[in-house]
Amino acid sequence: MTAAKTTRPPGEVEMLYSAAEIEARVNALAADIADTLGGELMVVAILKGSFVFTADLLRALHHHGVHPRIDFMTLSSYGSGTESSGQVEIVRDITDDVRGARVLLVDDILESGRTLAHAAALLTDRGAASVNLCVLLDKPGKRQAEITADHVGFAIRDQFVVGYGLDYAHYYRELPYIGAITAQ
Ligand code: IMP
Ligand code: MG
Repeated sequence: MTAAKTTRPPGEVEMLYSAAEIEARVNALAADIADTLGGELMVVAILKGSFVFTADLLRALHHHGVHPRIDFMTLSSYGSGTESSGQVEIVRDITDDVRGARVLLVDDILESGRTLAHAAALLTDRGAASVNLCVLLDKPGKRQAEITADHVGFAIRDQFVVGYGLDYAHYYRELPYIGAITAQ
Protein backbone atom coordinates (compact mmCIF):
# COMPACT_ATOMS: atom_id res chain seq x y z
CA MET A 1 0.00 0.00 0.00
CA THR A 2 1.27 3.49 -0.81
CA ALA A 3 1.10 6.28 1.74
CA ALA A 4 -1.56 8.96 1.21
CA LYS A 5 -0.13 11.93 -0.64
CA THR A 6 -0.32 15.36 0.90
CA THR A 7 -0.08 18.59 -1.03
CA ARG A 8 0.49 20.67 2.09
CA PRO A 9 3.07 23.26 1.10
CA PRO A 10 6.53 22.72 2.58
CA GLY A 11 7.68 24.99 5.41
CA GLU A 12 8.40 25.16 9.10
CA VAL A 13 5.86 26.38 11.65
CA GLU A 14 7.24 28.17 14.68
CA MET A 15 4.77 28.51 17.57
CA LEU A 16 3.89 32.09 18.52
CA TYR A 17 0.93 31.56 20.88
CA SER A 18 0.11 28.28 22.61
CA ALA A 19 -3.41 26.89 23.00
CA ALA A 20 -3.35 27.92 26.69
CA GLU A 21 -2.24 31.48 25.87
CA ILE A 22 -4.99 31.77 23.26
CA GLU A 23 -7.63 30.46 25.67
CA ALA A 24 -6.68 33.03 28.32
CA ARG A 25 -6.69 35.87 25.79
CA VAL A 26 -10.05 34.85 24.28
CA ASN A 27 -11.59 34.79 27.74
CA ALA A 28 -10.24 38.29 28.48
CA LEU A 29 -11.59 39.53 25.13
CA ALA A 30 -15.04 38.13 25.93
CA ALA A 31 -15.04 39.88 29.32
CA ASP A 32 -14.09 43.14 27.61
CA ILE A 33 -16.78 42.75 24.94
CA ALA A 34 -19.45 41.97 27.56
CA ASP A 35 -18.40 45.09 29.53
CA THR A 36 -18.39 47.47 26.59
CA LEU A 37 -21.20 46.12 24.39
CA GLY A 38 -23.56 44.36 26.81
CA GLY A 39 -25.78 41.36 26.18
CA GLU A 40 -27.82 42.24 23.05
CA LEU A 41 -25.54 41.46 20.15
CA MET A 42 -25.48 39.98 16.70
CA VAL A 43 -22.18 38.28 15.90
CA VAL A 44 -21.23 38.20 12.21
CA ALA A 45 -18.23 35.93 11.69
CA ILE A 46 -16.16 36.15 8.53
CA LEU A 47 -15.35 32.72 7.14
CA LYS A 48 -13.35 30.74 6.68
CA GLY A 49 -10.50 31.96 8.87
CA SER A 50 -12.51 32.94 11.96
CA PHE A 51 -14.37 29.68 12.54
CA VAL A 52 -12.19 28.35 15.38
CA PHE A 53 -11.81 31.73 17.08
CA THR A 54 -15.54 32.46 16.79
CA ALA A 55 -16.52 29.10 18.29
CA ASP A 56 -14.30 29.72 21.33
CA LEU A 57 -15.24 33.40 21.63
CA LEU A 58 -18.98 32.59 21.59
CA ARG A 59 -18.65 30.09 24.42
CA ALA A 60 -16.54 32.57 26.40
CA LEU A 61 -19.16 35.27 25.76
CA HIS A 62 -21.82 32.92 27.11
CA HIS A 63 -19.90 32.69 30.38
CA HIS A 64 -19.92 36.49 30.54
CA GLY A 65 -23.70 36.74 30.08
CA VAL A 66 -23.78 37.56 26.37
CA HIS A 67 -26.32 35.58 24.32
CA PRO A 68 -25.91 36.78 20.74
CA ARG A 69 -27.50 35.87 17.44
CA ILE A 70 -24.83 34.49 15.12
CA ASP A 71 -24.49 34.51 11.36
CA PHE A 72 -21.66 33.88 8.92
CA MET A 73 -20.37 35.59 5.82
CA THR A 74 -17.77 34.04 3.56
CA LEU A 75 -15.52 36.67 2.06
CA SER A 76 -12.52 36.09 -0.11
CA SER A 77 -9.68 38.55 -0.54
CA TYR A 78 -6.84 36.11 -0.98
CA GLY A 79 -6.15 33.58 -3.69
CA SER A 80 -4.57 30.44 -2.37
CA GLY A 81 -1.18 32.04 -1.69
CA THR A 82 0.03 34.58 0.84
CA GLU A 83 -0.65 37.79 -1.09
CA SER A 84 -3.97 39.66 -0.93
CA SER A 85 -5.59 40.18 -4.32
CA GLY A 86 -7.05 43.51 -3.17
CA GLN A 87 -10.52 42.48 -4.34
CA VAL A 88 -13.12 41.47 -1.75
CA GLU A 89 -15.72 39.03 -3.00
CA ILE A 90 -18.84 37.86 -1.12
CA VAL A 91 -18.79 34.09 -1.56
CA ARG A 92 -21.68 33.52 0.87
CA ASP A 93 -23.81 36.24 2.47
CA ILE A 94 -25.49 36.32 5.89
CA THR A 95 -29.16 35.35 5.93
CA ASP A 96 -30.31 37.19 9.10
CA ASP A 97 -31.58 40.76 9.08
CA VAL A 98 -29.08 43.23 10.56
CA ARG A 99 -31.43 46.24 10.66
CA GLY A 100 -31.24 47.85 14.10
CA ALA A 101 -28.76 45.25 15.36
CA ARG A 102 -25.63 45.97 17.36
CA VAL A 103 -23.20 43.93 15.32
CA LEU A 104 -19.92 42.45 16.48
CA LEU A 105 -17.96 41.64 13.33
CA VAL A 106 -15.43 38.88 14.01
CA ASP A 107 -12.46 37.91 11.87
CA ASP A 108 -9.22 36.02 12.24
CA ILE A 109 -6.82 38.78 11.24
CA LEU A 110 -6.78 42.43 10.24
CA GLU A 111 -4.09 42.98 7.66
CA SER A 112 -4.67 45.50 4.86
CA GLY A 113 -8.10 46.04 6.43
CA ARG A 114 -9.87 45.77 3.07
CA THR A 115 -11.92 42.72 4.04
CA LEU A 116 -13.30 44.19 7.27
CA ALA A 117 -13.73 47.70 5.85
CA HIS A 118 -15.83 46.16 3.08
CA ALA A 119 -17.91 44.04 5.49
CA ALA A 120 -18.44 46.88 7.99
CA ALA A 121 -19.60 49.26 5.25
CA LEU A 122 -21.99 46.64 3.90
CA LEU A 123 -23.59 46.00 7.31
CA THR A 124 -23.85 49.74 8.03
CA ASP A 125 -25.53 50.27 4.62
CA ARG A 126 -28.02 47.57 5.50
CA GLY A 127 -29.07 49.44 8.64
CA ALA A 128 -27.04 47.93 11.49
CA ALA A 129 -27.34 50.20 14.56
CA SER A 130 -23.60 49.84 15.20
CA VAL A 131 -20.71 47.73 13.96
CA ASN A 132 -17.84 46.86 16.31
CA LEU A 133 -14.83 44.89 15.15
CA CYS A 134 -13.15 42.04 16.97
CA VAL A 135 -10.09 40.29 15.51
CA LEU A 136 -7.90 37.58 16.91
CA LEU A 137 -4.78 39.07 15.31
CA ASP A 138 -3.81 42.52 14.10
CA LYS A 139 -0.95 43.27 11.70
CA PRO A 140 -0.97 47.09 11.93
CA GLY A 141 2.13 47.36 9.73
CA LYS A 142 0.17 46.19 6.67
CA ARG A 143 -2.84 48.51 6.87
CA GLN A 144 -4.19 50.00 3.61
CA ALA A 145 -7.81 50.82 4.55
CA GLU A 146 -8.84 53.33 7.25
CA ILE A 147 -9.94 50.90 9.92
CA THR A 148 -9.08 49.95 13.50
CA ALA A 149 -10.43 47.03 15.50
CA ASP A 150 -12.26 47.66 18.78
CA HIS A 151 -11.11 44.35 20.27
CA VAL A 152 -7.78 42.72 19.38
CA GLY A 153 -6.44 39.39 20.63
CA PHE A 154 -2.77 39.84 19.74
CA ALA A 155 -0.95 42.49 17.69
CA ILE A 156 1.81 40.89 15.61
CA ARG A 157 4.56 42.06 13.28
CA ASP A 158 4.43 41.46 9.53
CA GLN A 159 4.76 37.72 9.17
CA PHE A 160 2.56 35.01 7.72
CA VAL A 161 0.76 33.08 10.45
CA VAL A 162 -1.22 29.84 10.45
CA GLY A 163 -3.25 27.68 12.80
CA TYR A 164 -6.30 28.18 15.04
CA GLY A 165 -8.36 28.63 11.85
CA LEU A 166 -5.80 30.50 9.73
CA ASP A 167 -4.53 28.79 6.62
CA TYR A 168 -1.70 28.71 4.17
CA ALA A 169 -3.01 27.45 0.83
CA HIS A 170 -5.97 25.78 2.65
CA TYR A 171 -3.76 23.86 5.08
CA TYR A 172 -2.82 24.26 8.76
CA ARG A 173 -6.26 25.48 9.96
CA GLU A 174 -6.47 22.58 12.42
CA LEU A 175 -3.39 23.53 14.47
CA PRO A 176 -4.48 24.22 18.08
CA TYR A 177 -1.88 27.01 18.34
CA ILE A 178 -0.87 30.02 16.25
CA GLY A 179 2.45 29.78 14.45
CA ALA A 180 4.55 31.72 11.97
CA ILE A 181 5.28 29.92 8.74
CA THR A 182 8.46 30.09 6.78
CA ALA A 183 7.78 28.79 3.28
CA GLN A 184 10.72 26.97 1.71
P1 IMP B 1 -7.07 42.04 4.71
O1 IMP B 1 -8.29 42.30 3.87
O2 IMP B 1 -5.80 42.35 3.99
O3 IMP B 1 -7.14 42.71 6.08
O4 IMP B 1 -6.96 40.49 4.87
C1 IMP B 1 -7.60 39.83 5.82
C2 IMP B 1 -7.71 38.36 5.44
O5 IMP B 1 -6.50 37.88 4.83
C3 IMP B 1 -7.87 37.58 6.70
O6 IMP B 1 -9.23 37.39 6.99
C4 IMP B 1 -7.15 36.28 6.38
O7 IMP B 1 -8.05 35.36 5.82
C5 IMP B 1 -6.11 36.63 5.37
N1 IMP B 1 -4.77 36.78 5.99
C6 IMP B 1 -4.10 37.92 6.21
N2 IMP B 1 -2.90 37.67 6.80
C7 IMP B 1 -2.85 36.33 6.98
C8 IMP B 1 -1.86 35.46 7.58
O8 IMP B 1 -0.80 35.86 8.08
N3 IMP B 1 -2.18 34.14 7.58
C9 IMP B 1 -3.34 33.62 7.06
N4 IMP B 1 -4.28 34.42 6.51
C10 IMP B 1 -4.03 35.76 6.46
MG1 MG C 1 -10.16 35.46 6.26
